Amino acid sequence: MNRKISEHIEWVGKTDWELTHFHGEELSTAHGSSYNAYLVRCGGKTVLVDTVWRPYDREFVERLAATVDLHDIDFIVMNHNEVDHSGALPELMAEIPGTPIYCTAKGESIIRGHYHPEGWDIRTVRTGDRIALGDESLTFIEAPMLHWPDTMFTYFSGDGGVLFSNDAFGQHYATESLFEDRENLEGAIREALKYYVNILTPFSAQVGRKLVEIGAMNLPLALVAPSHGVIWREHIPMIMELYKAWSGGYAEERVAVVYDTMWNSTRRMAEAIADGIAEVAPRATVTLHNASKHDKNDIVTEVFRSKALVMGCPTINNELSYAVDGLLGMIKGLKLKGKSGAAFGSYGWSGEGPGLIQNRLEAAGFAPVCAPLRLQWVPDAAGLEECRAFGRGIGAAVFGAPEG
Ligand code: FEO
Repeated sequence: MNRKISEHIEWVGKTDWELTHFHGEELSTAHGSSYNAYLVRCGGKTVLVDTVWRPYDREFVERLAATVDLHDIDFIVMNHNEVDHSGALPELMAEIPGTPIYCTAKGESIIRGHYHPEGWDIRTVRTGDRIALGDESLTFIEAPMLHWPDTMFTYFSGDGGVLFSNDAFGQHYATESLFEDRENLEGAIREALKYYVNILTPFSAQVGRKLVEIGAMNLPLALVAPSHGVIWREHIPMIMELYKAWSGGYAEERVAVVYDTMWNSTRRMAEAIADGIAEVAPRATVTLHNASKHDKNDIVTEVFRSKALVMGCPTINNELSYAVDGLLGMIKGLKLKGKSGAAFGSYGWSGEGPGLIQNRLEAAGFAPVCAPLRLQWVPDAAGLEECRAFGRGIGAAVFGAPEG
């Protein structure tokens, strides 16, 4: 159902309660998602901002047609042309082929590369370009790499000021309520963080600069309307502050212990190391994650929140397990800043695993806390005490020596 969200704007997107994964299987979505599209009617003009993912293209066009005569749409704004937002363009343009589409220059190349259109009227815009809607206007703000090269924001001056921010400030969070103040705020923020970590973290420098640029524009903001999840209206300063913190080398008083295990020896090491950290850093939160069993996106979110990652793996054919190897690849890609790392693992004969982890963590920018810890076969009481001592050393190095 399409819904009015302010005097001149209707939400015309699609709520996807069934979505369990996004970007293929790369990103888990525990609370579904939505593909938010908006219809702005102001000053005698009708403007569509973004569309929805292709599986819902016909449904989207039919619901849109029930809201507005499609031929009354004066133009379409495509803030970002990944398929979850541009996927319904072909179905829509089949109905209104001459309607202008406004996007960035990179957006045009992405639209052409995806849909190979003939005859579409694609018009490129840059930061500061403005289109009047009677007394109000739409202003475009390029936002490259938030999170694709083509991304831009669009600012509507009416209704107290509305920033259509596309993926920025979004969350994979299905909601019928539309607004964050009518939702479980904690749940929406949790999903906003997971979204930031898994999609925007590699571009934190660009996020930080864009926040400064938006702040310097002193735009009145009654709504921040992203392309996924809740629309922000009562907590706009809060989500902006969170983005500022997340984009600036974020860390809480936490340590993530992430391991894989074949016969439980590395698991027992992980638990003893966690005990050691907790002994010397009682106010820190220590979390344990089995890389094979727990959600990879939740694990990297926990790593993002932590000051240090302590990672363990048995040695398998001179290499790491599939899960630890994959996680290390994900973590490197996120380009995390200011984190420390340590490695451990049980082994039988060659024992390369912990050293491989240490090298990979250092290559990903983690500062090494200490030399890797390796224990052969099954840890006995002395081995477990060695793990606790290893944990105490990490805790002291990351959080300082315990008081008293
Ligand atoms: Fe929600 Fe980058 O698309």
